[in-house]
Amino acid sequence: MDVSPNEGTLASVLVACGRLGVVRTGKAVHGWHLKREREMRLIVWNAVLGMYAKCEKLDLARRVFDGLLARDIVSWTVMLSGLVNCRRPSEALELFNEMQTSGVKPDKVVLSTVLSACASLGALESGRWVHEYIERKGIEWDVHVGTSLVDMYAKCGYLESSLSVFHKMPVKNVSSWNALINGFALHGHGREALEYFDRMVASGLRPNEVTFIIVLGACCHTGLVQEGLLLFESMKNVYNLSPWEEHYGCMVDLLGRAGLIQEAYGLIKVMPMTPDVFTWGALLSACQAHGRVDFSQQILRHVHELESSGSGVYVLLSNVFAVSDRWTDVKRVRGLLSEKGLRKEPGSSVIEVNGKTSEFIVGQKSHQDMDEICTMISILMKQIHLEGL
Ligand SMILES: *[C@@H]1O[C@H](CO)[C@@H](O)[C@H](O)[C@H]1NC(C)=O
Repeated sequence: MDVSPNEGTLASVLVACGRLGVVRTGKAVHGWHLKREREMRLIVWNAVLGMYAKCEKLDLARRVFDGLLARDIVSWTVMLSGLVNCRRPSEALELFNEMQTSGVKPDKVVLSTVLSACASLGALESGRWVHEYIERKGIEWDVHVGTSLVDMYAKCGYLESSLSVFHKMPVKNVSSWNALINGFALHGHGREALEYFDRMVASGLRPNEVTFIIVLGACCHTGLVQEGLLLFESMKNVYNLSPWEEHYGCMVDLLGRAGLIQEAYGLIKVMPMTPDVFTWGALLSACQAHGRVDFSQQILRHVHELESSGSGVYVLLSNVFAVSDRWTDVKRVRGLLSEKGLRKEPGSSVIEVNGKTSEFIVGQKSHQDMDEICTMISILMKQIHLEGL
Protein backbone atom coordinates (compact mmCIF):
# COMPACT_ATOMS: atom_id res chain seq x y z
CA MET A 1 0.00 0.00 0.00
CA ASP A 2 1.39 3.45 -0.87
CA VAL A 3 -0.72 5.42 1.57
CA SER A 4 -0.60 5.08 5.28
CA PRO A 5 -3.28 2.76 6.67
CA ASN A 6 -5.96 4.09 8.98
CA GLU A 7 -8.02 2.39 11.66
CA GLY A 8 -10.44 0.95 9.13
CA THR A 9 -7.58 -0.63 7.18
CA LEU A 10 -6.11 -2.19 10.29
CA ALA A 11 -9.45 -3.51 11.46
CA SER A 12 -10.03 -5.14 8.05
CA VAL A 13 -6.58 -6.72 8.00
CA LEU A 14 -7.13 -8.06 11.52
CA VAL A 15 -10.47 -9.55 10.50
CA ALA A 16 -8.72 -11.26 7.58
CA CYS A 17 -6.07 -12.67 9.93
CA GLY A 18 -8.78 -13.99 12.22
CA ARG A 19 -10.70 -15.65 9.40
CA LEU A 20 -7.52 -17.30 8.11
CA GLY A 21 -6.36 -18.20 11.60
CA VAL A 22 -2.89 -16.72 10.96
CA VAL A 23 -2.03 -15.53 14.43
CA ARG A 24 1.58 -14.63 13.55
CA THR A 25 0.51 -12.10 10.97
CA GLY A 26 -2.17 -10.84 13.33
CA LYS A 27 0.41 -10.33 16.07
CA ALA A 28 2.63 -8.48 13.62
CA VAL A 29 -0.21 -6.08 12.74
CA HIS A 30 -0.93 -5.61 16.42
CA GLY A 31 2.73 -4.83 17.15
CA TRP A 32 3.19 -2.63 14.09
CA HIS A 33 0.33 -0.46 15.22
CA LEU A 34 1.43 -0.35 18.88
CA LYS A 35 4.76 1.11 17.79
CA ARG A 36 3.19 3.85 15.70
CA GLU A 37 0.31 5.04 17.78
CA ARG A 38 0.33 5.43 21.45
CA GLU A 39 -3.40 5.55 21.71
CA MET A 40 -5.25 3.00 19.68
CA ARG A 41 -8.92 3.61 19.32
CA LEU A 42 -11.33 1.00 20.64
CA ILE A 43 -12.34 -0.11 17.15
CA VAL A 44 -8.78 -1.34 16.53
CA TRP A 45 -8.50 -2.91 19.97
CA ASN A 46 -11.74 -4.79 19.38
CA ALA A 47 -10.38 -6.01 16.06
CA VAL A 48 -7.20 -7.20 17.81
CA LEU A 49 -9.35 -9.00 20.37
CA GLY A 50 -11.47 -10.57 17.67
CA MET A 51 -8.39 -11.71 15.79
CA TYR A 52 -6.97 -13.50 18.84
CA ALA A 53 -10.34 -15.00 19.69
CA LYS A 54 -10.84 -16.32 16.12
CA CYS A 55 -7.33 -17.79 16.21
CA GLU A 56 -8.30 -19.46 19.51
CA LYS A 57 -5.55 -17.65 21.39
CA LEU A 58 -7.82 -16.89 24.31
CA ASP A 59 -5.07 -16.08 26.76
CA LEU A 60 -3.65 -13.42 24.44
CA ALA A 61 -7.15 -12.07 23.89
CA ARG A 62 -7.71 -11.97 27.62
CA ARG A 63 -4.48 -10.05 28.18
CA VAL A 64 -5.55 -7.43 25.64
CA PHE A 65 -9.05 -7.35 27.15
CA ASP A 66 -7.79 -6.90 30.71
CA GLY A 67 -5.52 -4.07 29.57
CA LEU A 68 -8.30 -2.05 27.96
CA LEU A 69 -9.06 1.24 29.69
CA ALA A 70 -12.58 1.31 28.30
CA ARG A 71 -14.71 -1.56 26.99
CA ASP A 72 -17.83 -1.33 24.92
CA ILE A 73 -20.47 -3.93 24.13
CA VAL A 74 -18.35 -5.22 21.22
CA SER A 75 -15.34 -5.90 23.46
CA TRP A 76 -17.48 -7.88 25.89
CA THR A 77 -19.26 -9.76 23.12
CA VAL A 78 -16.01 -10.76 21.41
CA MET A 79 -14.40 -11.93 24.64
CA LEU A 80 -17.47 -13.84 25.84
CA SER A 81 -18.16 -15.61 22.56
CA GLY A 82 -14.45 -16.44 22.21
CA LEU A 83 -14.56 -18.21 25.57
CA VAL A 84 -17.75 -20.07 24.70
CA ASN A 85 -16.48 -21.14 21.27
CA CYS A 86 -13.26 -22.44 22.79
CA ARG A 87 -15.22 -24.48 25.33
CA ARG A 88 -14.35 -22.43 28.36
CA PRO A 89 -17.93 -21.78 29.51
CA SER A 90 -17.21 -21.36 33.22
CA GLU A 91 -14.78 -18.51 32.48
CA ALA A 92 -17.46 -17.01 30.25
CA LEU A 93 -19.92 -17.01 33.16
CA GLU A 94 -17.35 -15.42 35.46
CA LEU A 95 -16.69 -12.75 32.88
CA PHE A 96 -20.41 -12.15 32.50
CA ASN A 97 -20.61 -11.52 36.25
CA GLU A 98 -17.88 -8.90 35.83
CA MET A 99 -19.79 -7.41 32.96
CA GLN A 100 -22.81 -6.80 35.17
CA THR A 101 -20.80 -4.52 37.43
CA SER A 102 -19.16 -2.76 34.48
CA GLY A 103 -22.11 -0.59 33.52
CA VAL A 104 -22.31 -1.99 29.96
CA LYS A 105 -25.78 -3.47 29.44
CA PRO A 106 -25.88 -6.93 27.84
CA ASP A 107 -27.73 -7.15 24.52
CA LYS A 108 -29.41 -10.09 22.79
CA VAL A 109 -26.16 -11.43 21.37
CA VAL A 110 -24.42 -11.41 24.74
CA LEU A 111 -27.42 -13.03 26.43
CA SER A 112 -27.57 -15.83 23.83
CA THR A 113 -23.85 -16.43 24.26
CA VAL A 114 -24.23 -16.61 28.03
CA LEU A 115 -27.17 -18.99 27.64
CA SER A 116 -25.07 -21.36 25.58
CA ALA A 117 -22.38 -21.26 28.29
CA CYS A 118 -25.10 -22.15 30.83
CA ALA A 119 -26.30 -24.96 28.56
CA SER A 120 -22.89 -26.60 28.32
CA LEU A 121 -22.33 -26.31 32.07
CA GLY A 122 -25.82 -27.36 33.08
CA ALA A 123 -25.87 -24.07 34.99
CA LEU A 124 -29.61 -23.82 35.47
CA GLU A 125 -29.59 -20.97 38.00
CA SER A 126 -27.57 -18.65 35.82
CA GLY A 127 -29.70 -19.64 32.84
CA ARG A 128 -32.89 -18.83 34.74
CA TRP A 129 -31.41 -15.51 35.77
CA VAL A 130 -30.82 -14.66 32.10
CA HIS A 131 -34.38 -15.72 31.27
CA GLU A 132 -35.78 -13.43 33.97
CA TYR A 133 -33.51 -10.63 32.84
CA ILE A 134 -34.87 -10.93 29.30
CA GLU A 135 -38.44 -10.79 30.60
CA ARG A 136 -37.71 -7.95 33.02
CA LYS A 137 -36.06 -5.74 30.43
CA GLY A 138 -38.64 -6.58 27.81
CA ILE A 139 -35.92 -7.74 25.42
CA GLU A 140 -37.42 -8.86 22.15
CA TRP A 141 -37.52 -12.62 21.57
CA ASP A 142 -35.94 -13.26 18.23
CA VAL A 143 -35.18 -16.73 16.90
CA HIS A 144 -31.69 -16.60 18.32
CA VAL A 145 -32.59 -15.71 21.90
CA GLY A 146 -35.59 -18.06 21.95
CA THR A 147 -33.57 -20.98 20.60
CA SER A 148 -30.79 -20.35 23.13
CA LEU A 149 -33.36 -20.49 25.94
CA VAL A 150 -34.95 -23.69 24.61
CA ASP A 151 -31.48 -25.21 24.32
CA MET A 152 -30.43 -24.11 27.80
CA TYR A 153 -33.49 -25.61 29.52
CA ALA A 154 -33.28 -28.76 27.40
CA LYS A 155 -29.61 -29.39 28.18
CA CYS A 156 -30.17 -28.69 31.88
CA GLY A 157 -32.87 -31.39 31.82
CA TYR A 158 -35.85 -29.05 32.30
CA LEU A 159 -37.87 -30.26 29.34
CA GLU A 160 -41.11 -28.68 30.47
CA SER A 161 -39.58 -25.22 30.68
CA SER A 162 -37.93 -25.90 27.35
CA LEU A 163 -41.28 -26.78 25.79
CA SER A 164 -43.09 -23.80 27.27
CA VAL A 165 -40.42 -21.39 25.98
CA PHE A 166 -40.59 -23.13 22.61
CA HIS A 167 -44.36 -22.65 22.39
CA LYS A 168 -44.00 -18.98 23.35
CA MET A 169 -41.52 -18.27 20.55
CA PRO A 170 -43.16 -16.02 17.95
CA VAL A 171 -40.86 -17.21 15.16
CA LYS A 172 -39.08 -20.55 15.03
CA ASN A 173 -36.71 -22.07 12.54
CA VAL A 174 -35.08 -25.48 12.11
CA SER A 175 -32.47 -24.69 14.76
CA SER A 176 -35.20 -24.05 17.35
CA TRP A 177 -36.83 -27.41 16.61
CA ASN A 178 -33.43 -29.10 16.70
CA ALA A 179 -32.75 -27.70 20.17
CA LEU A 180 -36.07 -29.02 21.46
CA ILE A 181 -35.81 -32.44 19.81
CA ASN A 182 -32.26 -32.74 21.08
CA GLY A 183 -33.54 -32.14 24.60
CA PHE A 184 -35.87 -35.13 24.32
CA ALA A 185 -33.14 -37.24 22.75
CA LEU A 186 -30.52 -36.36 25.36
CA HIS A 187 -32.75 -37.32 28.24
CA GLY A 188 -33.88 -40.68 26.91
CA HIS A 189 -37.25 -39.68 25.44
CA GLY A 190 -36.70 -41.20 22.00
CA ARG A 191 -40.38 -41.51 21.12
CA GLU A 192 -41.11 -37.86 21.97
CA ALA A 193 -38.08 -36.82 19.92
CA LEU A 194 -39.53 -38.63 16.90
CA GLU A 195 -42.98 -37.22 17.59
CA TYR A 196 -41.64 -33.67 17.52
CA PHE A 197 -39.67 -34.50 14.40
CA ASP A 198 -42.98 -35.42 12.73
CA ARG A 199 -44.60 -32.23 14.00
CA MET A 200 -41.75 -30.18 12.62
CA VAL A 201 -42.13 -31.77 9.20
CA ALA A 202 -45.91 -31.28 9.40
CA SER A 203 -45.36 -27.58 10.15
CA GLY A 204 -43.72 -27.29 6.74
CA LEU A 205 -40.04 -27.08 7.77
CA ARG A 206 -37.38 -29.19 6.11
CA PRO A 207 -35.13 -31.06 8.53
CA ASN A 208 -31.40 -30.50 7.99
CA GLU A 209 -28.35 -32.70 8.59
CA VAL A 210 -28.18 -31.71 12.24
CA THR A 211 -31.81 -32.75 12.75
CA PHE A 212 -30.95 -36.19 11.45
CA ILE A 213 -27.93 -36.55 13.73
CA ILE A 214 -30.28 -35.81 16.63
CA VAL A 215 -33.12 -38.15 15.65
CA LEU A 216 -30.81 -41.00 14.63
CA GLY A 217 -29.06 -40.59 17.98
CA ALA A 218 -32.46 -40.74 19.68
CA CYS A 219 -33.29 -43.99 17.84
CA CYS A 220 -29.93 -45.37 18.82
CA HIS A 221 -30.31 -44.70 22.52
CA THR A 222 -33.89 -45.93 22.62
CA GLY A 223 -33.24 -49.01 20.48
CA LEU A 224 -35.65 -47.95 17.72
CA VAL A 225 -33.95 -49.89 14.93
CA GLN A 226 -36.72 -49.88 12.32
CA GLU A 227 -37.47 -46.18 12.85
CA GLY A 228 -33.76 -45.38 12.56
CA LEU A 229 -33.39 -47.30 9.31
CA LEU A 230 -36.45 -45.56 7.83
CA LEU A 231 -35.16 -42.13 8.86
CA PHE A 232 -31.74 -42.83 7.39
CA GLU A 233 -33.37 -43.82 4.10
CA SER A 234 -35.66 -40.78 4.09
CA MET A 235 -32.71 -38.52 4.73
CA LYS A 236 -31.23 -39.59 1.40
CA ASN A 237 -34.34 -40.26 -0.65
CA VAL A 238 -36.89 -37.75 0.59
CA TYR A 239 -34.77 -34.82 1.74
CA ASN A 240 -31.92 -35.29 -0.66
CA LEU A 241 -29.26 -34.84 2.03
CA SER A 242 -25.90 -36.62 1.85
CA PRO A 243 -25.14 -38.35 5.14
CA TRP A 244 -22.08 -37.10 7.00
CA GLU A 245 -19.67 -39.30 8.84
CA GLU A 246 -21.72 -38.70 12.02
CA HIS A 247 -24.84 -40.17 10.42
CA TYR A 248 -23.01 -43.33 9.39
CA GLY A 249 -21.53 -43.49 12.88
CA CYS A 250 -25.02 -43.27 14.41
CA MET A 251 -26.32 -46.02 12.14
CA VAL A 252 -23.37 -48.29 12.90
CA ASP A 253 -24.01 -47.72 16.58
CA LEU A 254 -27.75 -48.35 16.19
CA LEU A 255 -27.26 -51.60 14.27
CA GLY A 256 -24.44 -52.71 16.55
CA ARG A 257 -26.43 -52.17 19.73
CA ALA A 258 -29.23 -54.25 18.26
CA GLY A 259 -26.72 -57.05 17.69
CA LEU A 260 -26.76 -56.64 13.90
CA ILE A 261 -22.98 -56.68 13.76
CA GLN A 262 -22.71 -57.96 10.20
CA GLU A 263 -25.02 -55.20 8.93
CA ALA A 264 -23.11 -52.57 10.88
CA TYR A 265 -19.83 -53.79 9.42
CA GLY A 266 -21.44 -53.78 5.98
CA LEU A 267 -22.37 -50.11 6.41
CA ILE A 268 -18.82 -49.21 7.43
CA LYS A 269 -17.58 -50.84 4.25
CA VAL A 270 -19.89 -48.85 1.97
CA MET A 271 -19.51 -45.45 3.60
CA PRO A 272 -17.81 -43.01 1.24
CA MET A 273 -15.43 -41.54 3.82
CA THR A 274 -12.80 -43.19 6.00
CA PRO A 275 -14.51 -44.26 9.21
CA ASP A 276 -13.33 -42.34 12.24
CA VAL A 277 -12.58 -43.51 15.73
CA PHE A 278 -16.20 -43.17 16.91
CA THR A 279 -17.54 -45.33 14.13
CA TRP A 280 -15.03 -48.10 14.74
CA GLY A 281 -15.54 -47.60 18.44
CA ALA A 282 -19.29 -48.14 18.08
CA LEU A 283 -18.72 -51.37 16.18
CA LEU A 284 -16.12 -52.59 18.65
CA SER A 285 -18.34 -51.82 21.64
CA ALA A 286 -21.07 -53.80 19.92
CA CYS A 287 -18.68 -56.73 19.42
CA GLN A 288 -17.85 -56.48 23.10
CA ALA A 289 -21.47 -56.30 24.23
CA HIS A 290 -22.51 -59.22 22.04
CA GLY A 291 -19.44 -61.34 22.72
CA ARG A 292 -18.17 -61.30 19.13
CA VAL A 293 -14.43 -61.58 19.67
CA ASP A 294 -14.08 -63.22 16.25
CA PHE A 295 -15.22 -59.97 14.66
CA SER A 296 -12.97 -57.78 16.77
CA GLN A 297 -10.04 -59.84 15.57
CA GLN A 298 -11.06 -59.30 11.99
CA ILE A 299 -11.01 -55.58 12.71
CA LEU A 300 -7.63 -55.83 14.37
CA ARG A 301 -6.29 -56.88 10.99
CA HIS A 302 -7.27 -53.46 9.69
CA VAL A 303 -5.49 -51.76 12.53
CA HIS A 304 -2.78 -50.32 10.36
CA GLU A 305 -5.50 -48.52 8.40
CA LEU A 306 -6.75 -46.90 11.58
CA GLU A 307 -3.43 -45.48 12.61
CA SER A 308 -4.39 -41.93 11.86
CA SER A 309 -7.64 -42.08 13.76
CA GLY A 310 -6.36 -41.50 17.28
CA SER A 311 -6.12 -43.51 20.42
CA GLY A 312 -9.75 -44.37 21.16
CA VAL A 313 -9.82 -47.40 18.86
CA TYR A 314 -6.80 -48.94 20.49
CA VAL A 315 -8.18 -48.48 23.96
CA LEU A 316 -11.48 -50.00 22.94
CA LEU A 317 -9.84 -52.89 21.16
CA SER A 318 -7.76 -53.65 24.19
CA ASN A 319 -10.90 -53.56 26.35
CA VAL A 320 -12.64 -55.99 24.03
CA PHE A 321 -9.79 -58.44 24.40
CA ALA A 322 -9.42 -57.85 28.11
CA VAL A 323 -13.02 -58.89 28.64
CA SER A 324 -12.42 -62.14 26.78
CA ASP A 325 -9.18 -62.95 28.59
CA ARG A 326 -6.97 -62.55 25.55
CA TRP A 327 -4.18 -60.87 27.40
CA THR A 328 -1.51 -61.30 24.76
CA ASP A 329 -3.67 -59.36 22.33
CA VAL A 330 -4.27 -56.74 24.98
CA LYS A 331 -0.56 -56.28 25.37
CA ARG A 332 -0.14 -56.02 21.62
CA VAL A 333 -2.71 -53.28 21.31
CA ARG A 334 -1.56 -51.37 24.38
CA GLY A 335 1.96 -51.62 22.97
CA LEU A 336 0.79 -50.00 19.76
CA LEU A 337 -0.80 -47.29 21.81
CA SER A 338 2.31 -46.26 23.70
CA GLU A 339 4.57 -46.64 20.65
CA LYS A 340 2.58 -44.00 18.87
CA GLY A 341 2.58 -41.77 21.90
CA LEU A 342 -1.18 -41.48 21.75
CA ARG A 343 -3.04 -40.44 24.81
CA LYS A 344 -6.72 -40.58 25.47
CA GLU A 345 -8.35 -37.26 26.36
CA PRO A 346 -9.94 -37.66 29.76
CA GLY A 347 -13.74 -37.52 29.76
CA SER A 348 -15.32 -34.97 32.04
CA SER A 349 -18.71 -33.75 33.06
CA VAL A 350 -19.88 -30.62 34.80
CA ILE A 351 -22.93 -29.89 36.90
CA GLU A 352 -24.22 -26.94 38.88
CA VAL A 353 -25.76 -27.51 42.31
CA ASN A 354 -27.04 -24.59 44.38
CA GLY A 355 -25.19 -22.12 42.20
CA LYS A 356 -21.83 -23.88 42.53
CA THR A 357 -20.31 -25.71 39.57
CA SER A 358 -18.37 -28.93 40.02
CA GLU A 359 -16.33 -30.65 37.36
CA PHE A 360 -15.72 -34.40 37.39
CA ILE A 361 -12.83 -35.84 35.42
CA VAL A 362 -12.44 -39.55 34.73
CA GLY A 363 -10.17 -41.16 37.32
CA GLN A 364 -10.00 -38.07 39.55
CA LYS A 365 -11.51 -38.18 43.01
CA SER A 366 -10.72 -34.70 44.22
CA HIS A 367 -14.26 -33.45 44.82
CA GLN A 368 -14.78 -32.48 48.46
CA ASP A 369 -17.94 -34.57 48.77
CA MET A 370 -16.47 -37.61 47.00
CA ASP A 371 -17.33 -40.07 49.80
CA GLU A 372 -20.95 -39.02 49.87
CA ILE A 373 -21.17 -39.09 46.07
CA CYS A 374 -19.74 -42.62 45.93
CA THR A 375 -22.12 -43.83 48.62
CA MET A 376 -25.06 -42.40 46.71
CA ILE A 377 -23.88 -44.02 43.47
CA SER A 378 -23.66 -47.43 45.11
CA ILE A 379 -27.16 -47.02 46.58
CA LEU A 380 -28.46 -46.13 43.11
CA MET A 381 -26.66 -49.07 41.51
CA LYS A 382 -28.22 -51.45 44.02
CA GLN A 383 -31.66 -50.04 43.27
CA ILE A 384 -31.09 -50.40 39.54
CA HIS A 385 -30.15 -54.04 40.03
CA LEU A 386 -33.20 -54.60 42.21
CA GLU A 387 -35.42 -53.14 39.52
CA GLY A 388 -33.78 -55.53 37.09
CA LEU A 389 -32.69 -52.81 34.68
C1 LIG B 1 -32.23 -19.89 12.72
O1 LIG B 1 -32.14 -18.53 13.04
C2 LIG B 1 -30.94 -18.12 13.69
C3 LIG B 1 -31.06 -16.66 14.08
O2 LIG B 1 -31.41 -15.86 13.00
C4 LIG B 1 -29.75 -18.38 12.78
O3 LIG B 1 -28.55 -18.04 13.45
C5 LIG B 1 -29.74 -19.85 12.41
O4 LIG B 1 -28.69 -20.11 11.51
C6 LIG B 1 -31.08 -20.27 11.80
N1 LIG B 1 -31.06 -21.70 11.56
C7 LIG B 1 -31.24 -22.25 10.37
C8 LIG B 1 -31.18 -23.73 10.30
O5 LIG B 1 -31.46 -21.60 9.37
